[in-house]
Amino acid sequence: MTQHLYHRPRRLRRTDALRRLVSEHTLSAADFIYPVFVIPGSNKRESVASMPGVERLSLDLLFTKAEQCLALGVPVMALFPVIETDKKTADGLEATNPEGLVPHAVRELKKRFPELMLLTDVALDPFTSHGQDGLIDEHGYVLNDETVEVLQMQALVQAQAGVDIVAPSDMMDGRIGAIRETLEANRCIHTSIMAYSAKYASAFYGPFRDAVGSSGNLGKSNKKVYQMNPANSNEALLEVGMDLDEGADMVMVKPGMPYLDILWRVKEKFARPTFAYQVSGEYAMIKAAAQNGWLDENAVMLESLLAFKRAGADGILTYFALDAAKLLKQG
Ligand code: PBG
Repeated sequence: MTQHLYHRPRRLRRTDALRRLVSEHTLSAADFIYPVFVIPGSNKRESVASMPGVERLSLDLLFTKAEQCLALGVPVMALFPVIETDKKTADGLEATNPEGLVPHAVRELKKRFPELMLLTDVALDPFTSHGQDGLIDEHGYVLNDETVEVLQMQALVQAQAGVDIVAPSDMMDGRIGAIRETLEANRCIHTSIMAYSAKYASAFYGPFRDAVGSSGNLGKSNKKVYQMNPANSNEALLEVGMDLDEGADMVMVKPGMPYLDILWRVKEKFARPTFAYQVSGEYAMIKAAAQNGWLDENAVMLESLLAFKRAGADGILTYFALDAAKLLKQG
């Protein structure tokens, strides 16, 4: 009965102190980027049915969120605008309005919370009447180079409003280099670019499109002619390599949990600041299961976030950012 085992891996799992001592990865509030949805007006909040616990907020109510980020040590807030229908056009030109919802929010937030970093999305989908991320031709095909020109203006307007990080999420070819060129030419040399480099044409974005109100406009069309095919993995390395060559400071893989293999390959190959986006559909799944009493929400939240770190992420965009930071603070 008595065995002489030289290796007993369970030895290091016996106490909490030991488990912490030999832990290979950790999670902290500093790993999180908190995405929020901003609506025009004041003292306005709207819930998003497919994202329980997430609200679209007017700027004044976002100030509270900014305070919470700072208090909990979450370093970055990511702004996503909900644009009024009458401001949406086929060319999405409202995206380049220096007085638009996003640049205005950036200026006001930076004035009050200079130490909180802000990230803004560069893409046209909240601004287009058809819900695509770019300009379309008469067949509905999303035009590349024409779109990039608008994205350059959009990114510049955001940078000039004082945003810390611009994050192109559109997946047009060559947009990182073009945006970097525009930022340099206008001496916005401190604006970082976080490229949504490996962004897949995913069904997991559904609840987000409800939140920004682009799903109705998009209708039955999809984004497969520019976002990546979920079947591909080598292609992610091509995209990341191009974006880094073109001047991206940080890269991203999106969605998150179903794409941990991509995250791992990207981090292994390039060893550059790499982020994962735990997207709206992932959030919705966890929330829905928890609301049914099928999963322990807090435990699954922290486990899913730690899994991103283990797979190589330097940080995670997550709607759980504040909740997870609170849990981590409580210990
Ligand atoms: C828009 C954009 C999307 C997301 C972030 N930026 C949606 C899309 O590409 O259709 C998705 C985020 C989420 O699902 O949480 N370019």
